[in-house]
Amino acid sequence: MQNKLLELKENFLTSINKIDTNLSLEELEKSFLWKTWKLKEILKWIKDLSVEDKKIIGPEANKLKIFIEEKIIEKKVEIEEVKYEKLEDEEKIDVTLRFPQKNKGHKHPISITSKLLEEIFISLGFKIEDGPHIETEEFNFDKLNIPDNHPARDVWDTFWISDEINKTKEPGDKYLLRTHTSPVQVRTMLKWELPIKIVVPGRVFRYEQEDARHTCNFYQLEGLVVWEWVTFWDLKWTLDTVMKSLLWDDTEIRLRPSIFPFTEPSAEVDVSCQICKWSGEVKSWSCKMCSGVGWVELLWAGMVHPKVLTDAWIDPEKYSWFAFGMGIDRIAAQRFGVNSSRMFYQSKLKLNEQF
Ligand code: PHE
Repeated sequence: MQNKLLELKENFLTSINKIDTNLSLEELEKSFLWKTWKLKEILKWIKDLSVEDKKIIGPEANKLKIFIEEKIIEKKVEIEEVKYEKLEDEEKIDVTLRFPQKNKGHKHPISITSKLLEEIFISLGFKIEDGPHIETEEFNFDKLNIPDNHPARDVWDTFWISDEINKTKEPGDKYLLRTHTSPVQVRTMLKWELPIKIVVPGRVFRYEQEDARHTCNFYQLEGLVVWEWVTFWDLKWTLDTVMKSLLWDDTEIRLRPSIFPFTEPSAEVDVSCQICKWSGEVKSWSCKMCSGVGWVELLWAGMVHPKVLTDAWIDPEKYSWFAFGMGIDRIAAQRFGVNSSRMFYQSKLKLNEQF
């Protein structure tokens, strides 16, 4: 009987030494310990032994069972260790390895300028507003005091949306790609409680002949302030402060009288040209941006026309207001020293990557 136990032990040891996967270990465990376990057969024989022999063989058989169980656990641990060592080798990460630098994307100069402007205006207490690119004739023109057949409509060369598409929208409305961000002034006045202090950065579209200063798709930033005691001086101070913050401390602005149907009085605002760093005299060579005059038109402004306010249910007797618009592309050209804002739209990576 003792021989049988010894034989079983040896048998078990040779089998377990050959094992290197969890699966075959499971098989071995089944055959030695579970239902079909060889040890169980031995225990059956023990039944027929004399009491004396039982006393000797019983504990020995039990010892063998425990031995087998322990060996199996040991083997399991060993198999796991080998598995992880192998994995470590296979999936080793060399943290010192150098990879070629991938090209990182970055913001377009117009987006950078727009963000900078937003930050400056937020620091002055303005909020950011937004409006649709496809606008109605009513908001783009009529509500801004530019009725049908008004000669000023010619200033905004317009991309009208085809009749087919117009029909699918609200009946009676004619749609167009907004020619300026000013419709958002009206939308905000109709929607918001006073006081209003907003800026609206956004894309606008014009049916334009392209040159260094004109593109048929460009970016504007609109501003509107409506509250008591707002003066033309506040308007001028705001524009001057923003331009000095965005460009250089010595940047100057000058206002020229102008006409916009939705502001009265109105002004076109020039900024001292940063491209040719104007020194007070007209350069002999011609800067493409300012045509050599040293000033470049970057902003438009005025006090909001009372008619626009009454149409938006604001009492012009009680409140005062100002509005302004600026060309983000031209401002970006000034800020980054590029002499044609059109270049920003020509997918010139060499240019855009510099900023
Ligand atoms: N919306 C005008 C334009 O695009 C600019 C402007 C804005 C003028 C606000 C006055 C006040 O030409």
